[in-house]
Amino acid sequence: MSRSAHPAGPRHADVLPEGHYTAPADDLNALDPKVWAHTVGRDADGVVTVGGIAVTQLAEEYGTPAYILDETDFRDRARAWRTAFGTDADVFYAGKAFLSRAVVRWLDEEGLNLDVCSGGELATALSAGMPAERIAFHGNNKSPEEIERAVRAGVGRIVLDSFQEIVRVAHTAESLGKRQPVQIRVTVGVEAHTHEFIATAHEDQKFGIPLADGQAAEAVRRALQLDGLDVIGIHSHIGSQIFDMSGFEVAAHRVVGLLKDVRDEHGVELAEIDLGGGLGIAYTSDDDPREPHEIAKALSEIVTRECEGARLRTPRISVEPGRAIVGPTAFTLYEVGTVKPLEGLRTYVSVDGGMSDNIRTALYDAEYSVALASRTSDAEPMLVRVVGKHCESGDIVVKDAFLPGDLAPGDLIAVPATGAYCRSMASNYNHAMRPPVVAVRDGAARVIVRRETEEDLLRLDVG
Ligand code: LLP
Repeated sequence: MSRSAHPAGPRHADVLPEGHYTAPADDLNALDPKVWAHTVGRDADGVVTVGGIAVTQLAEEYGTPAYILDETDFRDRARAWRTAFGTDADVFYAGKAFLSRAVVRWLDEEGLNLDVCSGGELATALSAGMPAERIAFHGNNKSPEEIERAVRAGVGRIVLDSFQEIVRVAHTAESLGKRQPVQIRVTVGVEAHTHEFIATAHEDQKFGIPLADGQAAEAVRRALQLDGLDVIGIHSHIGSQIFDMSGFEVAAHRVVGLLKDVRDEHGVELAEIDLGGGLGIAYTSDDDPREPHEIAKALSEIVTRECEGARLRTPRISVEPGRAIVGPTAFTLYEVGTVKPLEGLRTYVSVDGGMSDNIRTALYDAEYSVALASRTSDAEPMLVRVVGKHCESGDIVVKDAFLPGDLAPGDLIAVPATGAYCRSMASNYNHAMRPPVVAVRDGAARVIVRRETEEDLLRLDVG
């Protein structure tokens, strides 16, 4: 990312502290369409609107903090992925990014499949009516109960992550008189260019079965011998928030290599390759994500080329985007509580949420942008750090950004691109109550996940 440590432009402090921030935008009131959901704009009074509704009205009705999700944008992005991959490939939305029953219904209506990675996500999917055969079940340590539930429900595939699991799933399926379609998740040894905690294809980590030392080939060998399993393909997920397609290229090359070895050894051509999720989105104006049709074209070319080289029938491709669909669809709406200028440093802006609704900044050093949402302002830009209300100095939502210098308590600010991994990773730290998710579409808003209440917290505390 091109970041300048000493941006030009007006500011409060004469000397800016060291940091990784871009110069303030020419117009702080402008909303870069790269980082905001499709229907976001400002009304005649300068108030940010989404789906035709002003954030001031949303704050009044639903309170703050709140995740405001643009349903039109979600559907547009889901459809764009579906269309880009066409009928020869499958798109599984990764529910870990954000899952609710409304989301499951939208996905169903838009023709996407669903990747779940826990019993809880599976329960949500099934309770909202997602057909089981369109569900993929993931996880590196699925419990016997989760496996049984998935097999009984008839999920379309279980992605096997260890030798133990090969036996467990086979045994469960056999005892239920079923043959469970499975994929085997392999680690291809790619160093994805992303934060260490969200890279998953290098060998020294918990996911998948390594290709390099022959373990993956051994896993296929064992799985093919078990009556309870129908081995449909190989799975690889290299990491998350990735912009560079070269990691996928190497992964496809190595996975196709395994398919070839399997064909040569067993005379079996596995029908599917799943290349996982991981495509990056724009959190700030500096990020340049790829469009779904470019990704689809690139992936299908890579796989086709590799298969031609190996004289293999091209397998059916599937992908598992989570962030790239839901990430840009939502913003978090906060109310400013305090504004604390620190001379020569920056101004600390405290909001009514924080690391309990967005842990990504603290956990991954994630960068976000922020805008004054309840009005516009022509005041000089000031360098701010948007922080939460938790008892932790690392409780930072937006590390370095510019907001108008007249920002005051009571203003609403919005942090875009918080649709993925914010509500789904939210916590009750300091007994905070997790914010609601409010879906907006065509001038109507509705709560799809309600705000937690003190009663919710106390109900779990059984004395
Ligand atoms: N498929 C598999 C097997 C995965 O493990 C993941 C994400 C995905 C698909 C979806 O990846 P996406 O398209 O959303 O990047 N909490 C982190 C991200 C963790 C991703 C975990 N696995 C974050 O907030 O950045």
